[in-house]
Parts: sequence; C-alpha cells; structure tokens
Amino acid sequence: MPAARLLHLDASPRGERSRSRPVAQAWLEALSALVPLEITRIDLFATSLPPLGPGMIEGRYARIRGDTVDPAIARDWDRIDAIGRDFLLHDAILIATPMWNFGIPYPLKHYVDCVTQPGIAFTNDAAGNVIGHAAGRPAMIVAASAIDIATDGPLAAFDFQLSYLERWLGFIGVTDIHAMRVAPTYGPEDRVRETVGRAADAARAMAAVFAQSLNATRE
Ligand SMILES: Cc1cc2nc3c(=O)[nH]c(=O)nc-3n(C[C@H](O)[C@H](O)[C@H](O)COP(=O)(O)O)c2cc1C
Repeated sequence: MPAARLLHLDASPRGERSRSRPVAQAWLEALSALVPLEITRIDLFATSLPPLGPGMIEGRYARIRGDTVDPAIARDWDRIDAIGRDFLLHDAILIATPMWNFGIPYPLKHYVDCVTQPGIAFTNDAAGNVIGHAAGRPAMIVAASAIDIATDGPLAAFDFQLSYLERWLGFIGVTDIHAMRVAPTYGPEDRVRETVGRAADAARAMAAVFAQSLNATRE
C-alpha cells in the first residue's frame, strides 16, 4: 500500500520549548511505526498566507458573482485555492496547537480561513445543506493549554480551542476526530515535564487506534 499522506499543522511559535510539539512528535513516531507515512509539515508561524483584508474579501464576493477582479487580488485568491486543494490532497490531518486566549493562535485561524472556501473545502447543495469535502480523512488534535480545561469540567465553557477545531473539522466533513489535551502546562518545570510525558504516552496509545482508522479509509 502506498504511504498515507499526512498533513501536520503546527501552530506553536515556541520551537523546542513547545509543549504541544513533543506530544505531536510522539504520536507521529508511533503512527509511523504502524503505517507508512508521507508527512507534510506546515509550521504556521513560519508560513506566509495571503492576508484576508478588505480588497481580498470584496474580491471574494466579486469572484462568486463572476465579476472582474484586480489581477493582484485574483493571484492571491489563486494561492488560497491552491492551499485548500493541497489540504484536500492529504489522507489524514494532525493539528498541534496551544490555546491562546481560550481559542487558537491567529496563524492557525488564518489557515482555517484560507482552506474553508465554498467550492474548495465545502459546497452547499440545492437545499442549502453543507457538503464537507474533507470527509473520509481521520484527524488528530493535540491541544495544549496552561489551564486544564476539561471538556466535561467546570471551565468547559471557556474552550474555543479544541471544541472549535472539532466543530470546524466537522463542518468540512471530517467525522473521525481523535483529540487530546496537554494540560496543565503551567507550574513548576518538573510538573510540566510530567504532564507532557504523560500526554506523550497517551498519544502513543492513541496512534494505534488512529492507524486502524487510517487503514480502514485506505482499504
Ligand atoms: C498569547 C498567549 C495566550 C494564552 N492563552 C491561554 C489561555 O487562554 N488559556 C490557557 O490555558 N493557556 C493560555 N496560554 C498558555 C498556552 O496555551 C500554554 O503555555 C501551552 O502549553 C502552549 O503550547 P505550546 O508550548 O505548544 O506553544 C497562552 C499563551 C500565550 C503565549
């Protein structure tokens, strides 16, 4: 079987000091031992995406209407279309991200805004229903945060990170979503190291389940 194409979106600017990155890495290493992978890694803080300012957004509506668009704006929209198409070329998705002010860092949101274009990541049918074009791709989310915002805990209402990414993936058709938190990452370094180590162990175990999901989509 050919290698599975896995897209790895890394949304931490912290390099070697990142808490989400080593957990994502542990998961990737465990998954690679089970499934041959061809990994595309996008370091979102090191990636320049077309800004979605006023000209671009007016250009978006003009394109939808079929009107003429300024050539520079059209070029940037072609780039955005290519980013969306590239996203869909992958068989599986890994998102590793910190929580920033209860949500996700802006470069990850910018990437989401680039990919989630009508005709690229989704379409609406005649009845107005959304058809997500990323269906059939399993996804893994590694979500780090200083505070432990458990999904069923008292702070759950503050979670616009993991819950947002799950909803977004669902919107574009992904139904097989694997997710874990790396938390709390605040406190004495030895305690944080323990948290990251425990999360890495959990991630390795989750890789086995993910491998089954991924193989099932490729049979
Ligand atoms: C700008 C900024 C905003 C943050 N906001 C939150 C937050 O709202 N809630 C939280 O629990 N942690 C917050 N944190 C902490 C990070 O989520 C935490 O340190 C996480 O482990 C970072 O992941 P990383 O090391 O992979 O970048 C914030 C950190 C930064 C730099």
